[in-house]
Amino acid sequence: MKAIRIRGSRPLSGTIRVGGAKNAALPILCATLLSDGASLLRNVPALRDIDTTAALLRFLGRDVIVAAPEVRVAPATRVARPEAPYELVRQMRASVLVLGPLVARYGRAKVSLPGGCAIGARPVDQHLMGLEALGAKITVEHGYVIAEAPRLRGAEIVFDMPTVTGTENLLMAAALARGRTTLVNCAREPEVVELAAVLNKMGAEVQGAGSSVIHVVGRDELDPFDHAIQSDRIEAGTFMAAIGAAGGDVLLEEAPLDDLEPVVAKLRQAGVEIEREGAHARVRRLGPIRAVDVTTAPHPGFPTDMQAQLMAMMTVATGRSVMVETIFENRFMHVPELVRMGADIETHHNTAIIQGVQRLSGAGVMATDLRASASLVIAGLIAEGETIVHRVYHLDRGYERIEEKLAGAGADVTRIDANGEEA
Ligand code: EPZ
Repeated sequence: MKAIRIRGSRPLSGTIRVGGAKNAALPILCATLLSDGASLLRNVPALRDIDTTAALLRFLGRDVIVAAPEVRVAPATRVARPEAPYELVRQMRASVLVLGPLVARYGRAKVSLPGGCAIGARPVDQHLMGLEALGAKITVEHGYVIAEAPRLRGAEIVFDMPTVTGTENLLMAAALARGRTTLVNCAREPEVVELAAVLNKMGAEVQGAGSSVIHVVGRDELDPFDHAIQSDRIEAGTFMAAIGAAGGDVLLEEAPLDDLEPVVAKLRQAGVEIEREGAHARVRRLGPIRAVDVTTAPHPGFPTDMQAQLMAMMTVATGRSVMVETIFENRFMHVPELVRMGADIETHHNTAIIQGVQRLSGAGVMATDLRASASLVIAGLIAEGETIVHRVYHLDRGYERIEEKLAGAGADVTRIDANGEEA
């Protein structure tokens, strides 16, 4: 089992390049199912989740060539077997994003329920409510969702809460439905906006993405597309928190600052200097880290996907920080590991109180989910001595070669095998 070894307390310097956005690439890969033509995605990061999605598309009958940073989806040569098996879906919850495209394109879909994950129950009731509103007959049996409809028809759908993949699934379904669909109380994340732009490239008519009300005029057919994925705002925010934590001065290439306003505002409040330099960002932290309070919220609020990373930085801030996690019910699994490294953190339900300490001390720690893993790497950059982050596969789901990118900016970070040898 591979791990990441970090020898900390060194400031960062140099350049780090931000890759394509995982959470934009995943729905856009699923959108290729809406057209029989050949599609091309550019600036796609080399991640486990991308490989898993490619495997799922192949299972559904599409030939997919993954040659990072490009992914080519070949024309549909036969009617897809519109089924996504548990073996694939359990590896990645986002596989549920094939449900809308399959029932819209083939009139039937059988997709394993994704089940929960480390950070919460992660239900998909809103996805199913929306598909039913579009006329699909939904049955759930033996852990699978079966959605059937000769042809989806436009409807008005009101979400109980903003859901990112729920909004994306129903945008894709509505794009091939007959007539107009209005989606209300939508997620406003940049990844939703990007998917809508791709659907418009495919010939759909989607208006209002990025606001809470989106209008879709469905089409009988959709064209394939050629699209370059936007930079990953969460990867960029993760590196900003790493620089804030370790200190130093780094040029973050292709940082999507416009999509990071709530994160940039909090980091600046904490004493990190962030300046736009064309398409890049200069990120510096030379003085002390100031404690800040954060409450996560749907975009344009502070993203839940950045909560663990900011908390790692706050462990050595001057003063007390209060962080409230409002999106997922179990997203503090990095806390016990940070405490083992000497952090002073108390949690009460969805609230964490972080009292800044002088320093952290390196330790062996266990990654539990994607962003918690990033939080432990950031803590390792701060800590005195050596930190080993185990179960690094969690990290590889969403970060491409993170140890190389950090090492390229002067950090002592190495991927090691079970014998402690450089892997
Ligand atoms: C997306 O997950 C992201 N994943 C997550 O990123 C991210 O943390 C999350 O949005 C919130 O921003 C992808 O885009 C692939 P939600 P998603 O539906 O869509 C509740 C990462 O680290 N809900 O917006 O699954 C749900 O329980 C991952 O890259 C329902 O109750 O999240 C949660 O409390 C982790 N019923 C809230 O809504 C539903 O049918 C928001 O979840 C759907 C959601």
